[in-house]
Amino acid sequence: MTPLFRCEDLSRTYGSGRNTVVAVHGARCEILPGTRTALIGPSGSGKSTLLHLMAGLEQPTSGERSWPGLGGDPTTSPWLIGVVFQAPSLLLPLDVVENVELPLLLAGTDRAEARERAVAALDSLDLGDLGPKLPEELSGGQAQRVAVARVLAGRPRLILADEPTGQLDHETGAHVLDVMLHAADRLGAAVVISTHDPAVAALLDTRWAVADGRLSTSEGALR
Ligand SMILES: Nc1ncnc2c1ncn2[C@@H]1O[C@H](COP(=O)(O)OP(=O)(O)O)[C@@H](O)[C@H]1O
Ligand SMILES: [Mg+2]
Repeated sequence: MTPLFRCEDLSRTYGSGRNTVVAVHGARCEILPGTRTALIGPSGSGKSTLLHLMAGLEQPTSGERSWPGLGGDPTTSPWLIGVVFQAPSLLLPLDVVENVELPLLLAGTDRAEARERAVAALDSLDLGDLGPKLPEELSGGQAQRVAVARVLAGRPRLILADEPTGQLDHETGAHVLDVMLHAADRLGAAVVISTHDPAVAALLDTRWAVADGRLSTSEGALR
């Protein structure tokens, strides 16, 4: 099977001189279609940087990466990869439904279909009533669920979710995860979720550990 993403000796360094931080060091991995992977590691271990490298949002300092199963360069077809960001990412002047449909409109989807898909994605996360609200009227957890809906509405082939349940109570977190995994099944999408919650990681097929910027893709490393 052709991997959606692969990397070899991938590194990302921030700063210079005495302030150098090696956020990701020599990562090697493949993400195959339809797979579900947890990236497990403590805060500061490099999970977000690795996900941003996988998304094409960060440039590596060294090493190789490619997206053979996504037709090459994802920055020219950004809807193929859906990213649920760890930090708040809704656009404040737009209401909820406008936030969810914006990537579809930017990708050239017609207005009626974009609205229909945005509403369906919000409904699937029990957020149907929030459509006309502004981001500032939402709780942190609601905003995070809207960000998940925005990704699902885009029907990506690869979903990268950065601690998507970090701000949610246990029950809501489990529901969001369930919806995300079912949507991924329907779309035939692969999922990579970063987390430090073992209960979240346990729901996924594969667990990769990240520690001090080093990615370990063998399960044995977690024991
Ligand atoms: N834009 C940045 N500038 C400088 N340092 C950064 C930046 N982003 C991340 N880092 C550093 O890189 C390391 C890994 O960060 P990050 O990938 O956010 O880890 P995690 O998501 O696991 O908490 C940390 O030491 C962090 O402080
Ligand atoms: Mg992070």
